[in-house]
Amino acid sequence: MLEVKNVSYYYKSQRDNLVLNEIAYRFEKAKMYAVLGTSGSGKTTLLSLLAGLDVPVKGNICVQGEDIGKKGLCYHRKHNISLVFQNYNLIDYLTPVENVLLGGKVDARALLAQMGIEGDASVRNVMQLSGGQQQRVAIARALASQAPILLADEPTGNLDERIAKEITELFKSLAHEQEKCVIVVTHSKDLANEADVILQIKDGKLV
Ligand SMILES: Nc1ncnc2c1ncn2[C@@H]1O[C@H](COP(=O)(O)OP(=O)(O)OP(=O)(O)O)[C@@H](O)[C@H]1O
Ligand SMILES: [Mg+2]
Repeated sequence: MLEVKNVSYYYKSQRDNLVLNEIAYRFEKAKMYAVLGTSGSGKTTLLSLLAGLDVPVKGNICVQGEDIGKKGLCYHRKHNISLVFQNYNLIDYLTPVENVLLGGKVDARALLAQMGIEGDASVRNVMQLSGGQQQRVAIARALASQAPILLADEPTGNLDERIAKEITELFKSLAHEQEKCVIVVTHSKDLANEADVILQIKDGKLV
């Protein structure tokens, strides 16, 4: 589904810090992956490359065997990927319903209700919601997309245990029932334990 071929990466401003060092891995569909690693180990960096938000310094990212640069990174982001950012990246002058509709043509209210965002909270400006509510709007927006690959950066970081568990179950069902390739960066042991595969980024390597 999604293959990382000998990918190395450093930020242009910090050439002496090789964040990812010759990473090679093949992510399959219908599986949920948990990516662990200490703060600063390169988890968000890896997700950005998988999402086509940035390009590797060396190596390739391929979908169905084809380099994502071939059809273009815009095409990749639009058709292959749905993404839950670590800092949500919600559009701050829109409501939750409007934010979710940016993800795809769906019943935004129903999707938000599934996340526990209902009534007035779904039509208020998103900046007038709590951190955990904003996180759930970001997840709902990602779920509005039909993309086969879901990337999520710490999606349960701001959620209480009960909601975190529901989100974990939801991600699992997206992998197992809708056959999506679900890749979740997390510090949560509970979430990681539910994954089919647990990966760790350590010293620039994915193990
Ligand atoms: N825009 C940037 N410019 C330069 N260096 C960066 C930039 N973004 C991140 N880094 C550095 O790259 C390394 C990896 O950062 P990254 O954000 O991928 O870590 P992370 O594993 O996601 O951490 P966290 O768990 O805290 O979110 C860190 O050393 C960080 O300081
Ligand atoms: Mg991060």
